[in-house]
Amino acid sequence: APNRHIVVVEDAVALAEAAADRLIERIEANPGRIAICMTGGSSPKRLYELLATEPYRSEIPWDRVHWFIGDDRFVPSGDPLNNMTMARTAFLDACAPLANVHPIKTDVANPDEAAALYARELQSFYGTDKLDKAKPLFDLVLLGVGPDGHVASLFPGYPAIEVKDRWVVGVPEAHVKPFVPRVSLTQPALASCREMLFLMSGEDKRAILTRVLKGQDLPANRARSDGETVWLCDKAALPDDARG
Ligand code: 6PG
Repeated sequence: APNRHIVVVEDAVALAEAAADRLIERIEANPGRIAICMTGGSSPKRLYELLATEPYRSEIPWDRVHWFIGDDRFVPSGDPLNNMTMARTAFLDACAPLANVHPIKTDVANPDEAAALYARELQSFYGTDKLDKAKPLFDLVLLGVGPDGHVASLFPGYPAIEVKDRWVVGVPEAHVKPFVPRVSLTQPALASCREMLFLMSGEDKRAILTRVLKGQDLPANRARSDGETVWLCDKAALPDDARG
């Protein structure tokens, strides 16, 4: 696949460090305002906790970095299932100015309304509602992959994966646990980044990573950065024939 490369690291600890190093590099490459799109699930938790510790904490210019989320579960903020709540608990509450944290609002009537509000928030941050490949929305998009090949809340075979004319959509029901409605960035919004970084750790990811590497038509394979796409994998996540 064009612009896609795979980086192999030893284990989950090395994976979090490698991800933190790439995040710092993306920050250092941009002297202006930086936008990072985070992912939920369990995959990024160690990375998030690491960012609140030295040397990373001092290396991040917190005033210039804005934190968005690629998808969220439509549950009240504060609910442990909420992805932004997890990120806030892991590092943002301790490190980031509140004005730089951009949650998907779930205290509204329904996921569609939350999606429309978040699209407006992203567009006002970006300055326009027309994505420009030369000036991507995000410096970095982090993604995890579910057992069915979903990314963010773009599930295989669901209509949301085909949406190209909106940045954010409501997803009325999930394909995997937790079975709560979701709000998700769409494929073109996720693609608008300098780097898309997949986090693949542990043997639980081996089956789906095998399917991804075979090139199967999965949301995880459709998710491609307009810039660089990096699959950061630890050895346990690799298929047997790739572990070496
Ligand atoms: C979510 C996530 C989702 C996640 C994958 C992988 O809201 O659940 O954003 O896309 O990244 O399901 O989840 P794990 O990291 O828990 O394996």
